[in-house]
Amino acid sequence: MRKRTTQFICSACGHTAAKWIGQCPDCDEWNTHDEQPVDVEAPAPVVPLERPRPIRDIAVDGGATTPTSLSELDRVLGGGLVPGSVTLVGGEPGIGKSTLLLQAAARLARSGHRCLYVSAEESSAQVRMRAGRLDAVVDDLWLVAETSIAAVLAHCDELEPELVIIDSIQTVHDPELRSAPGSVGQVRHCAHRLVAEAKQREMTTLLVGHVTKDGGLAGPRVLEHVVDTVLTFEGDRHHALRLLRASKHRFGATDELGVFEMTNAGLSSVDDPSRLFLADRPIRSAGSVVVPVLDGHRPLLVEIQALVSRSELGIPRRSAQGLETGRLSQVIAVLERRSEIRFTKCDVFASAIGGVKVTEPAADLGLALALASSATDRPLDPGVVACGEIGLAGELRQTSQIERRLNEAARVGFTTAVIPAGAPATPSGIIGLRAETLAEALHLTHLIGPSADQLRPQLLTENEFRAVSDL
Ligand code: TYD
Ligand code: MG
Repeated sequence: MRKRTTQFICSACGHTAAKWIGQCPDCDEWNTHDEQPVDVEAPAPVVPLERPRPIRDIAVDGGATTPTSLSELDRVLGGGLVPGSVTLVGGEPGIGKSTLLLQAAARLARSGHRCLYVSAEESSAQVRMRAGRLDAVVDDLWLVAETSIAAVLAHCDELEPELVIIDSIQTVHDPELRSAPGSVGQVRHCAHRLVAEAKQREMTTLLVGHVTKDGGLAGPRVLEHVVDTVLTFEGDRHHALRLLRASKHRFGATDELGVFEMTNAGLSSVDDPSRLFLADRPIRSAGSVVVPVLDGHRPLLVEIQALVSRSELGIPRRSAQGLETGRLSQVIAVLERRSEIRFTKCDVFASAIGGVKVTEPAADLGLALALASSATDRPLDPGVVACGEIGLAGELRQTSQIERRLNEAARVGFTTAVIPAGAPATPSGIIGLRAETLAEALHLTHLIGPSADQLRPQLLTENEFRAVSDL
């Protein structure tokens, strides 16, 4: 027996309430509850899915994965796609979600897995045109432009694909529901149906999901709860670099980072991102310092640049790109306090090059050295990397996994690392310039005191200088 009524559903998290409320008790957002019609069914008799069994008696799923042959995607997934799993790929419009999934589908189809690509946003002709550029016109890759969930499932019945891609979950809808396509109720309903079908048919499913301006997945949060894996695809649209991360993964770790480059022929995996980031680095130019950062599990060498210039403005500018503004202000304050360098009448611009976001405190020292280098117009030795958190008292603090970071620096050919005094032994090939404070680090790198150029010819050869500094 069905009864028509209305409910108030939070457009941010899917919370339901019988009456309108101003603030959602689940996600704390304001004015997100919209009234929506619902059909209330009489409660059905309880039918258990299975009976409880002792844990020992339950067979282990092989956990076998199907590699997509896109090496960076496989890295993030921990080997490949698990059959019957549901993965949500989120990202801003235009970042390359459709491209990534079409390429993955083509690779899988080429290795004999039947794939169905459901385009609910673009026409088949548009997708076909893109596939031409991506070398994705292959046997056993099927394409349909469809927005009705029932029709999608009917196509799956007919084709029996191993993998289905829904592009996107926000644009498929169930015509039987009265709410508009893209509404919370529709997205939630369609996602639930697709997850149920994926499990029942052992059909690996990839869903494209749009994100809102602040980076969250548009639609109810329930979307993130019902799927097995949530991948986020990000990057700066003005740069070719794209980063793929797992924020949830039921079959493995979430700390792997996948790096891609957008080219004319689609996305290509970047096996050595450090070299890509450092490709255009100016050598012996003031204001540039390389920092070994850790993104999840993966060490990356990122160039941090700073420009300190005389300001014509009453309130000088402080601009940070790919770095946190708060961190920049703090590092400037500590630098002013612990050295003679002044930024009072200067505009300061700082940026992490390549479109990466560096939010780790471990990059503080690199940022401070870049600022000091620009302010004093003294370049750092091109073989130097810097790594360490700066405390408010000007002390250098330990950073996690420093060996990992320095191994990466050594691999790419760096020879010297400015590190906190208590850091573990440096890997072979890297000389450690150990400093207890920021002021000491500035002296060791000759950004304050006599410059390296003044010192070296009179005193020591480069190797002797390094050996002495290491003591
Ligand atoms: P797309 O996959 O459509 O993004 P999304 O599905 O996340 O909205 O990618 C769109 C952008 O990628 C578009 O701006 C053009 C660019 N692009 C390339 O640079 N090279 C290519 O080969 C392709 C297919 C797209
Ligand atoms: Mg798209």
